[in-house]
Amino acid sequence: MDAESFEKVSLIEHPVINKDLTILRDINTDIAQFRAALKRIAIILAYHALKELPLRSFDVQTPIEKTTGYDIDQQVMVVPILRAGLGLSDALLQFIPDAKVGHLGMERDETTHQPVDYYSNIPEGVEDAMVLVVDPMLATGGSAHDALSFLKKQGAQHLRFVSLICAPEGLRKLEQEHPNVHTITAAIDEKLNDDAFIVPGLGDAGDRYFGTT
Ligand code: PRP
Repeated sequence: MDAESFEKVSLIEHPVINKDLTILRDINTDIAQFRAALKRIAIILAYHALKELPLRSFDVQTPIEKTTGYDIDQQVMVVPILRAGLGLSDALLQFIPDAKVGHLGMERDETTHQPVDYYSNIPEGVEDAMVLVVDPMLATGGSAHDALSFLKKQGAQHLRFVSLICAPEGLRKLEQEHPNVHTITAAIDEKLNDDAFIVPGLGDAGDRYFGTT
């Protein structure tokens, strides 16, 4: 069977991702190894997520002669979906140290699988910024859908979603509800199970990253 293709999804392939994703999936990986592997993949995802940033050019004087230099020409805003999104946001800040950071607190109800919002704090300037919503897991897509809808209501116009592992169910939801949002991910897994966990997945990224159960 052919892999399902999603028009607005960039599946990033890299040997380091294959190796580190295996560390993340492995039930025997400890918390330090889990954090380190997630951080390495986050750097590769961040590099790709920032590829479409606009540039402005200006003259720069090298020790030899004058040439053309460049700077990023758009405010970047990183919005982790709490808690697990925090594991991805530092990588983006390494590339864009002056990025603003908004936070959206959401917790998926274990019975209904619907996201419950518990916190939001979005800096000014969301209308014009390149807004990168980050969350390692896209399962049903409910949390990402709520986050993107909330940011659109705040006026966001340039949205990207950065995720580690996506289920096809979540990608279909984003494609339907947010057809103009580009998703950058390291894996598209098989499906969701009856508890709406990604299969084969890696369990709950937030719990494994923070040591909770
Ligand atoms: C997980 C994950 C996503 C969401 C994905 O968070 O990090 O935010 O569930 O599921 P969905 O696509 O079906 O909405 P969780 O609610 O476990 O919170 P946490 O990050 O605090 O662990």
